[in-house]
Amino acid sequence: MIETGGEALPGGRELSVRVPGDKSITQRALILGALAEGESRIGGVLRGEDPLATGRALAGLGVEIRGLEGSPESDLRIRGRGLRGWRQPDGVLDLENSGTGARLLAGALAAQPLTAVLTGDESLTSRPMERIVGPLRRMGAAIDCLGVPGRLPMRVTGGPLVPLCHRGTVASAQVKSAVLLAGVGAGVAVEVCEPRRSRDHSELMLEAMGVSVVAGAVEGGWSVGVPAPPTRLAPLDMEVPGDFSSAAFLLAWAVLSGCRGALTVRGVGLNGTRTGLLPVLARMGIGVDVAQRGTAGGEPVGDLRVAAPMGPPRAVEVGGAEIPAMIDEVPVLAILAARAEGVTRITGARELRVKESDRLTALALNLRRIGVAVEELPDGLEIEGTRGRLAGAAECFGDHRIAMCFGVLGATPGCDIRVDDPGVADVSFPGFWKLLARLPHRSASDRRGRTAYTRRDAARGDAAANPEAGCLVVAIDGSAGSGKSTTAAAVAFRLGFRHLDSGAVYRAVTLGLIERGTADAVLEEVTPEELAALEIDVKWGEGRMEVWLDGNRIPERDLRSERVTARVSQVSAIPAVRSGLLDLQRSARAGAGLVAEGRDMGSVVFPDAKVKVHLDADPRERARRRILQRGERSPGPAEIEAEADRLRRRDERDSSRRVAPLRRAPDAVVIDTTGLEPDEQIDRIVRLVEKARRVSR
Ligand code: S3P
Repeated sequence: MIETGGEALPGGRELSVRVPGDKSITQRALILGALAEGESRIGGVLRGEDPLATGRALAGLGVEIRGLEGSPESDLRIRGRGLRGWRQPDGVLDLENSGTGARLLAGALAAQPLTAVLTGDESLTSRPMERIVGPLRRMGAAIDCLGVPGRLPMRVTGGPLVPLCHRGTVASAQVKSAVLLAGVGAGVAVEVCEPRRSRDHSELMLEAMGVSVVAGAVEGGWSVGVPAPPTRLAPLDMEVPGDFSSAAFLLAWAVLSGCRGALTVRGVGLNGTRTGLLPVLARMGIGVDVAQRGTAGGEPVGDLRVAAPMGPPRAVEVGGAEIPAMIDEVPVLAILAARAEGVTRITGARELRVKESDRLTALALNLRRIGVAVEELPDGLEIEGTRGRLAGAAECFGDHRIAMCFGVLGATPGCDIRVDDPGVADVSFPGFWKLLARLPHRSASDRRGRTAYTRRDAARGDAAANPEAGCLVVAIDGSAGSGKSTTAAAVAFRLGFRHLDSGAVYRAVTLGLIERGTADAVLEEVTPEELAALEIDVKWGEGRMEVWLDGNRIPERDLRSERVTARVSQVSAIPAVRSGLLDLQRSARAGAGLVAEGRDMGSVVFPDAKVKVHLDADPRERARRRILQRGERSPGPAEIEAEADRLRRRDERDSSRRVAPLRRAPDAVVIDTTGLEPDEQIDRIVRLVEKARRVSR
């Protein structure tokens, strides 16, 4: 399924992949095709365990299906038996793991003049069926739960039904579809109101088959109805788009692996009732370009492209109305949250407890096991992102999405995760593991970078005895506006190194002095003793730098407050401050590596740094970036020139100041970033680090 690429992508290279057909659409095509009059042709179907189980159940009902177990390229042909033409099955219909198969078939069976017993595997027989049993009984179907009430196995005896207006308490496309299929099958009017709009594949497919579907917002939710069902369904002729839910795993991989270049997933279904993850990703700082290329069976189809990440994702709050359109992607969000900056809070997702597994518990348990701090809420999760090493065994609970999410996380740097039951991925994404293995992975040395101390490190030298000795230091400095902070953070993220932001340390000192009431006039006279009395400390929240003052972690908003910003350059020019902070900054060396960023990193703080980089860019380009960074829109030439002038004057001051002038270390590699995309800058530095590692080995 990989179309281009193969090895690690140097900056700018593109990797293009496809994912198997959409599970929800394939399931509906099978069932609706079986109710049509005439032969349906369906291309691009998912040949996963779920549709295969539905196909076998339909075969048991006398429906002739060709090509379902055939080659991925071949079309599927379904010879429909008409709205009420299914045959009495000989045995039990086993839907295995498929909730969609069981619930939609139960709806369709409610209108058939026959009796069928539906069952499933351990997971499916423990999932709630009352939500469909209730409305179908009210329409007139006879349904007996043969084991536990409200669970499979159940016997459905269909026949003539009465119209129904069903008000559901959960947003469920399966419940909605079951009622619509019963109404269409029996030729009676139906309407379903759900608290929030769920995926609308059934509606679109019914319309493509000649059914008039009425849908719209109503008080308290969303209503869908078929007021005048037709006497026959026209056969389908359609291509199933790639599954957005499967594509989501690959997008997450690209974000978390620091995939260099960009990853495009082609031919993906872009139905808005499914793509709710995209705006959430945008809030996390993950940009996904969406290009619609056409439609298939009324479904929008197109390409998703995620660019190389600039840094770790940001934590988000997600809940309420957002959940239905991303219900199957919450596990993907959870693994992104595990690597995000901050605490992600997911609420309103109680339905996850009744999916193929209790996904809230499965996610919480597994994340905790591998080293992520998680709080399980009744209807969601609170996940604290970490850059620390994640290792351990993930338990799948027979759930394809749990298996794939820990598979994806495990394929990213700094993780060593085993998945206990990888085979379950076949339910929705056959070939998932093969595809994952063929994606470009980081070099072994990169991966080692995420791991604080490997046995090889310890065996090679004195790293175990002296943590600082094994730590590769990358010193980054550069002129104002050259992009050093963002670049340093992104490089550290890619390599799994600590990121020392010396600017934040100077800000902490400034804040401390302000809080002590040191007047501006006497700042110059701060003594080393006064400085020591400040109790500035730097701690490492699993790779991320935290600055502490007097025993308390300084909140980001205090560090970046105006009063600090106004004085920090004055404070950082005090000789006692600079020398007083040397030891503290040097103590940041630990683990595999440190990206240290600041004006005198390569010359004074870490003169022996293995990699020294000096970033520069044309003043006009730096000016343009600064203006854009402030959130202003495309600046005009005059505005750019004025800002560039300010930067030139600042360069002058910076390089001629008495204390810690900006002077690049003679052995620093100068990178002119003027014409470079951010990921190209990052790539260049990462390549310098790789080279330094090879040399020192
Ligand atoms: C599906 C609907 C959703 C979803 C499931 C597939 C469908 O379930 O989670 O994976 O194909 O209709 P609910 O209807 O239970 O929300």
